[in-house]
Amino acid sequence: MSNQALQDLIAKTQATLELIAAHYAPSVFASSMAAEDMVLTDLILRGKLQDKISIFTLETGRLHQETLGMLDRIRETYDYEVTPYRPQPQAVEQYVQAHGRNAFYDSVELRKECCHIRKLEPLNRALKGNASWVTGQRRAQSVTRAELHVQERDEAHDMQKFNPLADWSEQDVWDYIRANDVPYNPLHDQGFPSIGCEPCTRAIQPGEDVRAGRWWWENPDSKECGLHVVDGKLIRIKSHAAESA
Ligand code: ADX
Ligand code: SF4
Repeated sequence: MSNQALQDLIAKTQATLELIAAHYAPSVFASSMAAEDMVLTDLILRGKLQDKISIFTLETGRLHQETLGMLDRIRETYDYEVTPYRPQPQAVEQYVQAHGRNAFYDSVELRKECCHIRKLEPLNRALKGNASWVTGQRRAQSVTRAELHVQERDEAHDMQKFNPLADWSEQDVWDYIRANDVPYNPLHDQGFPSIGCEPCTRAIQPGEDVRAGRWWWENPDSKECGLHVVDGKLIRIKSHAAESA
């Protein structure tokens, strides 16, 4: 992509974030602190939009040390405190007692139950009371995201949901990070293009699909943790305001 095309993409994304701040606040940005989310973190904080769009992370209790270290990097770079949401200790305890700490390898059901306890329930708490939420999802990331729009209606949470990087390629993300000296998770330099919980993420070989290292023992069409799926499908309303912003 030419430099001008990347500048245009950035301007469009800034316009989306400003639209959210102006019309869909209070809003929260769900950050896994992976590369895409660092682009949005940089755009939100340098754009001084944090009072309207605050940033949280789902601290599942199973993240890599490198990922947890990003909380410090963000504090040092931007003087901003990302809010961690953690699972209910009793729910984790019950799951571990009933099934074992790593039971997510045993079946898709047990994997989804773990994601529910460690991600979905805390997500519900994080979203409560807000008018919209923001994610770093991109269309090109996965077969399950091929239809992703910049703005959608999240029926399950009864709020607007924005994916401001829907049109971005992986190359755009890295061009932005390098041009703006954005801090990033060191695991990205060790073969991890996509980063989730430590036991459910592994490094990939050059040429493999970017999400091949996530829940690698499952089929590609089940490889979502549920953060972005409603009853097995995504529900969207295309917004011309955001799409053309
Ligand atoms: S996942 O559904 O497979 O886990 P992925 O890692 O691709 O998602 O991230 C997609 C988007 O989901 C991120 O850009 C971010 O908005 C949100 N997300 C994923 N993991 C977390 C997390 N641990 N905390 C907060 N948001 C997250
Ligand atoms: Fe549990 Fe793995 Fe889901 Fe993390 S990604 S919540 S460890 S099943």
